[in-house]
Amino acid sequence: MSKYTFPESLHLLKKAQEFAYECLINTKVDVEDMSEVAKWYRYEHSLRVANFGKMLVDDAKKRGIEVDEFTVRMACTLHDIGKFEAFLIPNMSHGLVGANMARPFLKSIGIDDKTTEDICWCITCHSGEFDQYEYDDIIEAHFTEEADDIDRYGMLRVLAKIGDWKESSANYLEVIDKVDKYIARLRRHKKNLRCTSPKAEKILRKEINLQIEAFYGYRKQMALTTDPEGKNVKSKYCD
Ligand SMILES: [Fe+2]
Repeated sequence: MSKYTFPESLHLLKKAQEFAYECLINTKVDVEDMSEVAKWYRYEHSLRVANFGKMLVDDAKKRGIEVDEFTVRMACTLHDIGKFEAFLIPNMSHGLVGANMARPFLKSIGIDDKTTEDICWCITCHSGEFDQYEYDDIIEAHFTEEADDIDRYGMLRVLAKIGDWKESSANYLEVIDKVDKYIARLRRHKKNLRCTSPKAEKILRKEINLQIEAFYGYRKQMALTTDPEGKNVKSKYCD
């Protein structure tokens, strides 16, 4: 357990939030399709993941499971700071890039070495590619990844997917095909879902079910977007 306890350590978490803002909103990375929307999505996603992380920690504590709240909340806040920088570093996951960015920041605000390395490990392995260094299997890393997953399967993702599909499809039949493939993916994910946190698993199953429902509803509407002969029309939203 780290020595950082809440609410005394809230100011450190606030500094992490400011650092995430610098890395994501004020990023110097200038790649082609980087929009303001993408930057804000990533920053706000980080704030939500931090709150989901806290939710999982609170639940674990009620169950008598030892988990370090400070490490989880810090890691969740910083987990995606390397998202854009990773575009410039081939063959390195955004998790590892983010951990390398977080380390000097954490030291600069006075976090001790052990807690810094725990947080960096959580950031590294949330992206699922961590074969470049080894570390103890700490529960905080699982919670960080699961908090991230919960937000990824939320309603905002549904809206973003629908927008992407409309833009990248020639007509509604193509959209329907993409919806069907995505629903199949969601079903597979739900089937294989195993979480360290029972709370995360419960929320994720609910979120995935909601996504499936939402995509089915959307699919039904797209299928009815036809001319009087029942032929699917070209969407005015699609090029
Ligand atoms: Fe994320």
